[in-house]
Amino acid sequence: MAGRIPIRTRIGIVGAGPAGLMLSHLLASAGVESVAIDTRSRQQIETTQRAGILERDSVRLLVDSGVSDRVLREGHEHTGISLRFSGIDHRIDFQELIGASTWLYPQTEVFTDLADARARDGGDIRFGVRHTEILGIDDARPRVRFTDADDIAYELRCDYLVGADGSRGLSRNQVPPAHRHQYFREYPFAWFGILAQAPPSANELVYAHSDRGFALISQRTESVQRMYFQCAAQEDVDDWSDDRIWSELQARVAGEDGFVLKQGPIIEKTVLPFRSFVQEPMRCGTMVLAGDAAHTVPPTGAKGLNLALADARVLAEVLERAIRNNDSSVLDDYTTRALERVWKAQHFSYWMTTMLHRHPDSSDFDARRQLGELHSVISSEAGSRYLAEAYTGWPST
Ligand code: DHB
Repeated sequence: MAGRIPIRTRIGIVGAGPAGLMLSHLLASAGVESVAIDTRSRQQIETTQRAGILERDSVRLLVDSGVSDRVLREGHEHTGISLRFSGIDHRIDFQELIGASTWLYPQTEVFTDLADARARDGGDIRFGVRHTEILGIDDARPRVRFTDADDIAYELRCDYLVGADGSRGLSRNQVPPAHRHQYFREYPFAWFGILAQAPPSANELVYAHSDRGFALISQRTESVQRMYFQCAAQEDVDDWSDDRIWSELQARVAGEDGFVLKQGPIIEKTVLPFRSFVQEPMRCGTMVLAGDAAHTVPPTGAKGLNLALADARVLAEVLERAIRNNDSSVLDDYTTRALERVWKAQHFSYWMTTMLHRHPDSSDFDARRQLGELHSVISSEAGSRYLAEAYTGWPST
């Protein structure tokens, strides 16, 4: 199309969620220019509820790279979680087991910190773009075409392109089928997520196994709480009144210790999809994938955001090297390093999911077997330690 305004940059980033913004931030610190675009508005991203747990190294990355120390001031350090089953809490103490913690600090806050840091440092981030098209990933001139909110058409020309546009984005399917393998796993259930105006019922996260299915008690602030319960894959939020939600949640956490959730008005209800996905390799020609564009995990264990930040960290280093040495072969290094963590996280998320959720076809045997597994985890130091290591995050490589 005639009249497209050309933009020239080193790295073009499709998707300005946490993966894209963190990458753009780290590249800027290394002196590498980038432009990131996103079809969503900044406000849309900021108001979509996402998970809330940061691994130890995700917190370090935010603080050490100068994004923000707000996580340390406003986030909540958690030194363990509770595995609740047969109506009793069993604490996994991360500090005692491995000297590590996680931080409750919602993804929306991470996004805000990153977007503010990019704005502060003069980063070129364009929200609310339309008609995105990706071209030329198989040659040395990758391009992205888009129009902005005022219908002005642009062509972004770059050395390398990063697809960080999430699981429903364009970029991963630009890789020709002959050059990619997509690994999928569906689950026959989903999570019903709520935000409720109520005081916290626990200081840390409670992952609850029950005959009625899984429940997760998380927190947000002193007056707003986040909770989830396992529901059918096609559950309709309109079938769930506040009363029905509270009685289901209370039933799933009830026990002889008398634990009762503090209730209040429910201000948001959403059904979260549940699946595992990986696309390999994470590179094709001059394009690499990062975050949910390359991999999706089921939400149990909150690995999604942490994987996205870990991808951005490795990718920034590898892209900087590729540009400095004018050598694109180092991008294969990214695929190898990122995928090792991705598959560990896939296993961990799958393991937590299958240990704690009720499969629709499960028998009494399966329910007893899950309890056996939970008892093994809490009574074995090796079992608890594995959970603590995986939950707080594997060290950066
Ligand atoms: C939250 C979400 C998760 O998937 C999880 O495992 C822990 C916490 C949350 O939204 O707070």
